[in-house]
Amino acid sequence: VRDTNVNATPNLMSVANHYGMPDPNPDGPYGYFEAIRDEAEAAPIVWSEGLGGHWVVGGYEAGSQIVRNSAAFSNKGVTFPSYDLGEFRLIMSMYDDPEHKRQRQFVEPYFTMTACRDYGDWMRETIGELMDRRIGDGRAEVAEWFGEQYPVRLTALLLGVPLEQSERFEPWVEAITNNKNPAATAEAFEEMVGAAQALIERRRVDPSDDVFSHAVNAEIDGDRLKDNELVSLFEVLLLGGIENITVVITTIIRRLAWDDEARRALVADPGLIPTAIDELLRYYAPAIGGRLVTEQVTVGDVTMEPGQHAMLWYPVMNRDRSVFSDPDSLVLDRKPNRHLGFSTSIHRCLGAPLVKIKLKIMLEEFLKRIPEFELDPEDRTEWVTGNVCGARRASIVFAPGEPAGAHIESA
Ligand code: HEM
Repeated sequence: VRDTNVNATPNLMSVANHYGMPDPNPDGPYGYFEAIRDEAEAAPIVWSEGLGGHWVVGGYEAGSQIVRNSAAFSNKGVTFPSYDLGEFRLIMSMYDDPEHKRQRQFVEPYFTMTACRDYGDWMRETIGELMDRRIGDGRAEVAEWFGEQYPVRLTALLLGVPLEQSERFEPWVEAITNNKNPAATAEAFEEMVGAAQALIERRRVDPSDDVFSHAVNAEIDGDRLKDNELVSLFEVLLLGGIENITVVITTIIRRLAWDDEARRALVADPGLIPTAIDELLRYYAPAIGGRLVTEQVTVGDVTMEPGQHAMLWYPVMNRDRSVFSDPDSLVLDRKPNRHLGFSTSIHRCLGAPLVKIKLKIMLEEFLKRIPEFELDPEDRTEWVTGNVCGARRASIVFAPGEPAGAHIESA
């Protein structure tokens, strides 16, 4: 769905600002991304006056070159404007090699496709139990129904904390990402550090089978993650594991609510779900990441200077016509699908295999129990843009069903 007003505006990239996109049209920011893609075909990297000045990268090839060139582009600038974190840095995500590589090796084994399959049964039960809560109502807001709780519960499982503690997850994440209320932020930040430190101490003497406990006790060639790195891992699992999944789930269910053809194709052939998930992650890639230029570097015909920031508009790169045929259509069996929704190269999303399994199981269970649904006529979809883009709230209606009675022990 295109917004013709957006398309008519020239030079979108020269004023682009991922936090201040034009009011999303009825299908969100995607018409705007397509319009930026149209400009990026002529000039894949453009200096924007937005946010005090930075480079906006919209071309697939240009973006891939930047991400692969970690000598000239540092992950110290993965967020822009930078979060005000003082000495604190997010493990892996805000470090460059060799520190980044050293940190990542301690946790990588727990995030492979094989390791993540172990969570399959747990995920199926969890989504079933969450669906039961509202399936009899015939109407629900997706994020509140299961889009928030499904990733929150999995994150509690990865961290090995009781589900009650997950009530604090949101303020802890805000403590990193939101500097609007410094006093409340500092308090929540201290509380998060305290909780993480207490958990580290406990897992040293009483290890368990969760990812965090493994990271606390992992030793490679006599080396271990330091306490400050483990506190940061605690925060990264919260930061990476919840909000973007909530947004992706809500955006996907919203799409299938109005796209009868896609929904019915998936119901008729659930074997399509794995490629469909990749395609939905291409089409609705939620993340926009950045890099700090550390040395003078030329990409294509653009020369960048040390100290400048380059923002990687992954959802725009995913519409590049030179890489994807018919990029503005959702092609459920698209193959190959080398989308950049999880970025690429050394900083490629650690959680990517987990996300794919999580979304696959969610969609299988959802479509099995609710094959027909549509947008609530009273739906007022809430869109977000920034480091995470997509639908944050959307309401659907469906024929009320029976709870299946699935029950799980709390995480
Ligand atoms: C829909 C869900 C998700 C999306 C779209 C997503 C996307 C991304 C992207 C684009 C990056 C690279 C950023 C950059 O350097 O430019 C990234 C990095 C990362 N993600 Fe995810 N992510 C998702 C979920 C998760 C989950 C569930 C976890 C962990 C449980 C996770 C953990 C990480 C970590 C640790 C990094 C940093 C990796 C590194 O720098 O080596 N993400 N993610």
